Amino acid sequence: MQESRHVFINQGLEFVLGMTLQEISILEVGFGTGLNAWLTAKHIQGISTPVKYISLESFPLEESTWLKLNYASDDLERELFASIHKAKWNETVTLQPGFELTKLHTTLQEANLQPSTFNLVYFDAFAPEKQPEMWLPAVLEKVVVAMKPGAVLVTYCAKGQVKRDLKSLGLTVESPPGPPGKREMIRAFKP
Ligand SMILES: C[S@@+](CC[C@H](N)C(=O)[O-])C[C@H]1O[C@@H](n2cnc3c(N)ncnc32)[C@H](O)[C@@H]1O
Repeated sequence: MQESRHVFINQGLEFVLGMTLQEISILEVGFGTGLNAWLTAKHIQGISTPVKYISLESFPLEESTWLKLNYASDDLERELFASIHKAKWNETVTLQPGFELTKLHTTLQEANLQPSTFNLVYFDAFAPEKQPEMWLPAVLEKVVVAMKPGAVLVTYCAKGQVKRDLKSLGLTVESPPGPPGKREMIRAFKP
């Protein structure tokens, strides 16, 4: 929770909210437990910028698994978390005013992503040592192509090779401080 808040919400969403866009389109690679989607939906409550959140997941969790997750601290938060999980795969639903969610049951490699679509990417794949195929330049390129000019990509990963690959794909790469216990993370911009 602390890592997600730092990397995706504080260094990603907050940064893009500061750009005062008409609307923010977010691509998440790896829906997982739904934590980032839930933190994002909570964060934008009371903010006037609408958010479209598209999340890719190859192996959705079973209900019996996500029901055991205990991120919420009150009933409203629990309801929001459940509504994110109960949203049908491959359909777009409005879960609260200004928060539209589309969960796509697909791999990043197979996903059909339109070019120049997203203002913000949460790249939350498993680490390169665990799942190197997610970090191949050709796979990263697919994400970069789907980013709008001026868009931002954030990831907890701070590996030199990933930075070099993002640079060679034309992004400007920064290394803000990482979450507690990690020196750096990556935030990259599409010119
Ligand atoms: C670090 S977890 C994501 C955590 C998640 N963002 C959250 O808020 O809980 C990485 C996720 O990527 C998914 N994944 C693995 N291979 C994938 C692929 N080829 N395309 C899309 N998602 C993939 C995994 O199943 C896993 O749920």
